[in-house]
This record gives sequence, C-alpha cells and structure tokens, in this order.
Amino acid sequence: MTFRVAVLPGDGIGPEVVAPAAEVLRKAATLAGVDVTLTWGIVGGRAIDDVGDPLPAATLRLCQDSDAILFGAVGGPRWDHVDPNIRPEAGLLRLRQLLDLFANLRPAKLFSALADASPLKREVVDGLDIVILRELTGDIYYGHPRGIETYEEGQRGINTMVYTTREIERILRLGFEIARQRSRRLASVDKANVLETSRLWRQTADRVAQDYPDVMLEHMYVDNAAMQLVRAPKQFDVLVTGNLFGDILSDEAAMLTGSIGMAASASLGRDTGLYEPVHGSAPDIAGKGWANPLAAILSVAMLFTYTLKLTDVAQRIEAGVERVLAEGYRTRDIQAPGTRLVGTEEMGKLVLDTLATADERR
Ligand code: IPM
Ligand code: MG
Repeated sequence: MTFRVAVLPGDGIGPEVVAPAAEVLRKAATLAGVDVTLTWGIVGGRAIDDVGDPLPAATLRLCQDSDAILFGAVGGPRWDHVDPNIRPEAGLLRLRQLLDLFANLRPAKLFSALADASPLKREVVDGLDIVILRELTGDIYYGHPRGIETYEEGQRGINTMVYTTREIERILRLGFEIARQRSRRLASVDKANVLETSRLWRQTADRVAQDYPDVMLEHMYVDNAAMQLVRAPKQFDVLVTGNLFGDILSDEAAMLTGSIGMAASASLGRDTGLYEPVHGSAPDIAGKGWANPLAAILSVAMLFTYTLKLTDVAQRIEAGVERVLAEGYRTRDIQAPGTRLVGTEEMGKLVLDTLATADERR
C-alpha cells in the first residue's frame, strides 16, 4: 500500500522548515518499510502570485487525493492588502473547511532540555504535557453574516459567532476519547457567562459527558483558562475549546514549552489529515536560514501517529529531536548560553542522522 502525502510549503519560512521535515518523513518511512509518495503543491501567497488563488483547484485536488498533507505556513506583509477573500490565510481556511478538518490537536509538551527556554519558571513547566483540542471548522471564523458595511454613522465590521449542537458534540466526543487515553480529565473552555454559543457548548458538553462517566469534565471560562495556563499549566491534561478561543490559547500554550518554533499540530476530519507547525510564516526571519524546523518535524511525527498509525516511528522521531536538544544544539529561538547555535538545515540534518543511527543500532 502506498501512502500519498501532499507537501504544501507555502510562504515565509514555510518552505525552509518543510524541506527538512519532508526528508525526515521520507527517511522514517523507508526505515519503517512504508511506501510514501510526496507530491508538492502551491498554496497561500505563493499561489496568489502564480495563479491568483490561495487554494488553486489543482492543489485542492491533490489534497483530496492524498492521505495526508504536510503544510508549511501561509501569509506575509506582501499580501496584507489583497482582497480578504483571496488572502493567503483564506486558502488555509478553505482547505480546513473543504476537507472537514474539524479537529485540531495542538500538544504542548516540554522537552526537558528546554525547561530553561520557557519564559515560566522551571518548576512551573517541568514535565508539562498537555493537549489543546481546538474545533477548527466552525465559530466566528466561518459564521455569517460577516463583512464591513456602511451605515448612517460610518462603517461597521460584522462577524457572527455560531455553533451547532452537531459541531459541538463531535469535537467534545473526540475530547473525551483523547482524555480516556490519557489521564481521564477534560477541561472544556468557553465564555458561557456571556455568549449563547458557549451556553450551548456547555449544555452539550454536560450531555456528552454522560456517555463518559470515567472522564472528569471541568468547565472553565476562557479568560480564567488564559490565566491558569501561565499560573499553573500542569493542572490541565486535555483542554477542548472552540475555534477562536483555541487559536489564542494554543499560541499561549506553545510558548510555555519554550518557543512556538517547537509546536506541532494535526488537523483531523474524515479521511485526510493535515500536519502543520503552529508558528506561521514568520516573514521577519524568512530566507535567513534561522527558522526552527523542529515544529515541522514534530508535525511529521504526528502524521505517523494519526494517519499512518505507526506510533513507534513517531516516537523514534520525537526521540531524535530530544537527543539533538540534549546534545545542546539550538536554533536561535531556543538558544541559551552554553548551547550550540545551528541553522534550519543543520538542525534538520541532525535529526535525520539520529534516525540513521537508531537504525544501525537495531
Ligand atoms: C493558526 C493560524 C490561523 C488561524 C491563521 C493563519 C488563519 O493562526 O493556525 O492558528 O487563525 O487559524
Ligand atoms: Mg493561530
């Protein structure tokens, strides 16, 4: 059986971090005896420049025909002033929606070698291992009406926060399932003291919870959750929330682990899974060769877990990252006194080499 992976590097540092990640993917697959074919496609600003559409039909078809997508990042100041419907980000949002990638998993796991890279004290983050499950195809991101309109007194911007019971229920069920495989605690984050969508979210969570009596469900307001994440992040295990709150909280959680340059993600739906570093296109450092490729490489590990169901290979990649960090290699974002500064390419090569040595030792 051949697995097809669409590789969409996108903009900014996307191509720089995806290149080593694709090599790790190829090598890990070869070592595991899995046949994968990688096919490159264009997306985001790059695709706007080439064909005037951030998600060209050919790219969408490639994704629909693939088992997984390895995604870099989209966006940059060059495209900040284009029509909002053809912004680079619109390509990613459409892709999520069209592939029904409703579940976004963003683990925040601290590599022990990086405890001092975290802005929080070592004892607060040591051993941190939480998962943020973000609903990804609903909420104010997609609600209608939306737009900027003119009225008597000037202009007004409009967005609509909307959640259906069905959308809430499927993400909550997944949250309970994931919690079951971990410590059986689920924190559901909302703003039920103000928002109707959140009230429905909370009611639905309570109803779904009856099917999971072995999991402890806790409700938390999003403002409190933002505070608790920096006060005592280890109180959480699995945190489930809506699209907008999840966007914000997952960046916060990523930073706890030292750098957003370490944060991987998986977006899952029915068939195809999308694997993407959380950091975005980082136009300020694009082209410099500084970017941290570890988030993209760890996203490849997630691809092995969720699409290929080869957790041993995923663990091997993670162990490779752990080892390179333990040996003291660092990209700029996680650099500290006494460590060895390396660029994107070298960091990628170091992880790749751990895969070879692991194999030789077998
Ligand atoms: C993310 C990003 C995206 C989002 C942007 C690029 C549309 O911030 O994946 O977290 O808001 O979902
Ligand atoms: Mg974000």
